[in-house]
Amino acid sequence: MVKGQGTLIRRGPGEIEMTDQTGRTSDAQAEGDGYMLYHSIGQYPGKARDMAASLTAFAECWGAANDEQWGYALGQRQRFIDLWSQLLNAPSASLTTTENVTSALAALIMALPREDLEGRVVLVAGDCFPSLHFLLTGLADRYGFTLRTVPLRDGAHWVEDEDVITAWGPEVGLALLTWVSSTSSHRCVLEALVAHGRKQGSLIGVDITQAAGLFDYDCMAVAADFAISTSLKWMCGSPGGGILQVMPDVIARCQPSLRGWFSQDNIFSWDINAFAYAPDIRRFDNGTPSVMACVATVPALEWHAAQDWGAQLAKNRSLSEAIIAASDAAGFELASPRDPAQRGGSVMVRLTDADHAQTLLSKLRDVSVFADARGPILRCSPGFMTTRAGIDRLASVLTGG
Ligand SMILES: Cc1ncc(COP(=O)(O)O)c(C=O)c1O
Repeated sequence: MVKGQGTLIRRGPGEIEMTDQTGRTSDAQAEGDGYMLYHSIGQYPGKARDMAASLTAFAECWGAANDEQWGYALGQRQRFIDLWSQLLNAPSASLTTTENVTSALAALIMALPREDLEGRVVLVAGDCFPSLHFLLTGLADRYGFTLRTVPLRDGAHWVEDEDVITAWGPEVGLALLTWVSSTSSHRCVLEALVAHGRKQGSLIGVDITQAAGLFDYDCMAVAADFAISTSLKWMCGSPGGGILQVMPDVIARCQPSLRGWFSQDNIFSWDINAFAYAPDIRRFDNGTPSVMACVATVPALEWHAAQDWGAQLAKNRSLSEAIIAASDAAGFELASPRDPAQRGGSVMVRLTDADHAQTLLSKLRDVSVFADARGPILRCSPGFMTTRAGIDRLASVLTGG
């Protein structure tokens, strides 16, 4: 809660008086107005209340001495799948749940026909999410591919799209694109990259984690082969709510290694000599699905579905410009693209060093501004609850110390 002047208008846990669409507040300081961690967890007004209600309803059903549990639990999971599918305009039965983004990529790679990867190149940019790079380096030997990592240019904060294209020839069996980078918020031009990849005959996957829920991702328009994400960040959901979306023609060629009774069309087909994959994305399921993250996340997905996305994005753009202006005024190097067309929802600022970043974060916390840092890089993501008042407090800490 913000300390100091102003009246906090609060109707319930996590619920605040909303600002106008430019992010300006009246004289009241609203709870969450300095929250800038949309690259990390993500909050929306009323989230704690909504999540608690959903989890409580689940507990009441799950703990009842009757036989209604599975219908409810699997229904919640299907609601999660439907809301995500709607958000991404995914073809029917092409999206399923995973624990996280790393496991989604692993599931896809471990399902591809051998010849897609063996003796070929997997292409990734050096500013991909490190966890995915860790996975790929570990899988390279086992699946017989060479990992080609496109490096950052000297002193750069992100990998240029043209360098990805230069490194991308017909030897590339699979390319993983990071739509928005977690360290610079650089946003690559998916249209151009996918068009190039199609000419090379590569499979193309997109990590949409840092953009989903802020920028519109349309599976049909982008026409990549698969997409992976979490329900955290701009989606404001809970941990454990990863997703894997795979286009139907690719699904048909996949034989997931991690498989089980839920990978079948009829999960009750228990003849141990007659396993058969489901015809759609369900073949990527395995044992009893984990539903808790779906239960905890469905309210956030429903909240998202009801938003005016043009207005939310416009607010993010306007507040991001204010952060950039404050960083310029304080004399720091911008570690994100200045051009909004190349930028995701975050603004990264290079501070003197990691210690400076920690000192600054602590001063920000004192005035209820919440950001984070990776080494000397301060990461600020103004989102649904952030207001101009929060940005003003960030600016005064940046310029003051
Ligand atoms: C671009 C990107 N991909 C993936 C992830 C998360 O991966 P995982 O869900 O495997 O932890 C993050 C988290 O910050 C991210 O920024």
